[in-house]
Amino acid sequence: MTVRAYRPVSWQLPNATMPGVGTLQALRAEALTCTRCPLAEGRTQVVFGIGDEAADLMLVGEGPGRQEDLRGEPFVGRSGQLLDTLLRQELGMGREACYIANVVKCRPPGNRDPLPAEIAACRPYLQAQIELIRPVVVVSLGNFATRLLLDTTEGITRLRGTVHRFGPGWLVPTYHPAAALRGGTEVLAGMRADLVRAKRYLSVDPPAGDGPDR
Ligand code: URA
Repeated sequence: MTVRAYRPVSWQLPNATMPGVGTLQALRAEALTCTRCPLAEGRTQVVFGIGDEAADLMLVGEGPGRQEDLRGEPFVGRSGQLLDTLLRQELGMGREACYIANVVKCRPPGNRDPLPAEIAACRPYLQAQIELIRPVVVVSLGNFATRLLLDTTEGITRLRGTVHRFGPGWLVPTYHPAAALRGGTEVLAGMRADLVRAKRYLSVDPPAGDGPDR
């Protein structure tokens, strides 16, 4: 198992901050009226994120689908049902014990992939969520979350199975649950192993002096 070197919070690019937004409630209020990108025009609801605001574990998906857009909550469709099952079986926790958010907070039309400009426009919300929650472990679900958070172009198939220093804690990349629904037993087994790894890293202290203190 590989632990890759600490990344110097390299995804904190200029423009990626939310000045003056000091609480998740204020951030949510800002997101609910967001018109930073054209996805705002097609949404039913902004899907900001849900869960324990002091969670040690945060999961980051790609973007809302139809069910999420209607309900205003991430991962409530088929992918979400699988995610809930895996969280229970591999980590012994329900979704209320973690925090769940997405790379983009509004549904891309027809469930297409989010565009680079949409990801860039929405990125400050995710960054602020992570900074306010300060999770010990972030699990990135699929290519979009993993590439954004690790600032890489590598794909999830190569990256899963690794652990990365991330801010004050760790990042564990894994498949998106939709890929596990499509991809059969091997993908599902990989995802289970990654979630077990995430559970283990919840109690691993990052090396001292390597990043900001938690
Ligand atoms: N897929 C995602 O990436 N996020 C959701 O909230 C639902 C499906």
